[in-house]
Amino acid sequence: MQDLPRKVELIGEHPRMQRVKALIDRVGPTDATVLVLGESGTGKEVVARAIHAASPRAEKPFVAVNCGAIPAELLESEMFGHERGSFTGAVEAREGMFQVANTGTIFLDEVAEMSPALQVKLLRVLQDKEIRPVGGRRSQHVDVRVIAATNKDLGELVTRGLFREDLYYRLEVVPIEVPPLRDRRTDIPLLVTHFLRRKNLKRPGAEVAIDGDAMDELCSMDWAGNVRELENTIERLGILCEGARVTLDDVRSGRRTARRHEESLPFLAVEGFDLAQAVEDFENRLITEALRRTKGNKQAAARMLGVKRTTLASKLRRRGELDPDVDENEDDDGEGGGETGSGRPTLQ
Ligand SMILES: Nc1ncnc2c1ncn2[C@@H]1O[C@H](COP(=O)(O)OP(=O)(O)OP(=O)(O)O)[C@@H](O)[C@H]1O
Ligand SMILES: [Mg+2]
Repeated sequence: MQDLPRKVELIGEHPRMQRVKALIDRVGPTDATVLVLGESGTGKEVVARAIHAASPRAEKPFVAVNCGAIPAELLESEMFGHERGSFTGAVEAREGMFQVANTGTIFLDEVAEMSPALQVKLLRVLQDKEIRPVGGRRSQHVDVRVIAATNKDLGELVTRGLFREDLYYRLEVVPIEVPPLRDRRTDIPLLVTHFLRRKNLKRPGAEVAIDGDAMDELCSMDWAGNVRELENTIERLGILCEGARVTLDDVRSGRRTARRHEESLPFLAVEGFDLAQAVEDFENRLITEALRRTKGNKQAAARMLGVKRTTLASKLRRRGELDPDVDENEDDDGEGGGETGSGRPTLQ
C-alpha cells in the first residue's frame, strides 16, 4: 500500500522512452490526472512512481491500488473507507486508500476492471475532490493526485459500453504510452546491466558478468512479458551463475525451459479461448490416461483420479462412452477387463 519515498529508476534511452521521460518531466510537477497505457510488465507502475517523484508531492504518500486484484464488493471500501457497522464485518470505521493518499498520489492500477457503480463514484471524486466512505452521510474533501493505468484498450471498452466515456476523458487528461520491450530493443543491454548491477550489489564477492554473445541473444528475444520477464530472467541467471559469467549456453537453456512452460499452455494464446472447455479437455485427458494405465479398470482408474467410481461412470456416460442404461454398480471392473475387452468404444 503506502510506501516510503524511494528512488525511482526508470531505465531506457530509446527515443520512445525519451519521449516517456520528457512527458513525465512535463506533467510531473502539475496535478494533472495521467493515464498510463501499455502491455503487462512494461513498467507502468515505475512510470507512475516517477511522475509522483517528479511532483511537489514527492515526499507525500504514494498509494497503489490494484483494482483488478480486490474483489468488486470490497473495492469501494478499500478506496473510500467505511463507517462502523456499514456492512457485516465492519466492526470499526476504517480509512480508505484515498484518505491514506491525502496530499499525495493514488495509483489506480488495472482501472478497466472497476465496476460500473464504482466508475461513477470515481468520476465524482475526480470532479468534486470529495469522497464518501461506505455507510457515511457526509463527504470528505481529499487532495489526491490520480494516476491510472491499464493494459486494456480503454477506448474500445468505451465503444462496447464497458467503461464510462465521461470517466475515460477525465482519466485520459494526459495519456502516456509505455512501449513494449520488443519495440525498444536497444534498451535491453541497459536493463540487463541495471539488473545485474543490482544483483551484484546484494552479493559482493559473488559478482556476475555477462558474455557478449549471451547479451546478443537476450537482445534478439521477444520478451512477451516485457521488462518484468527480462528482470526475472536476469535474476534467475544471476543465481545460477554466481561468481561467474553468464554464457550463451546459460541463456539458451533458460530459454528452452521458458519455452517448455509456454508450450504446456499453448491454447492460452488461441483466440476464443474458453476456460470451461479447456478444463473439460484436461479432465478428459486425465480420465483417458488413468483408464489406459489401469487397462480400462474403472474402479482402479477412479482411485487413481481420486474420485468415486460412480463419479467416473457418470463422466464417461456424459462422454457417451458408457451405455446410458448400464448401472455403474454392475459394470465389469474385473482385473484387466473393463471396456477394452467388452466391445465398447475404447477411450483415446
Ligand atoms: N524502465 C524500467 N527500468 C527499470 N525497471 C523496470 C522498468 N520497467 C519495468 N521495470 C521493472 O519491471 C517490473 C515490472 O514493472 P511494472 O510493475 O511497473 O510493470 P506494469 O506495466 O505495471 O505491469 P502490469 O501490467 O503487469 O501491472 C518491475 O519489477 C519494475 O521494477
Ligand atoms: Mg502494474
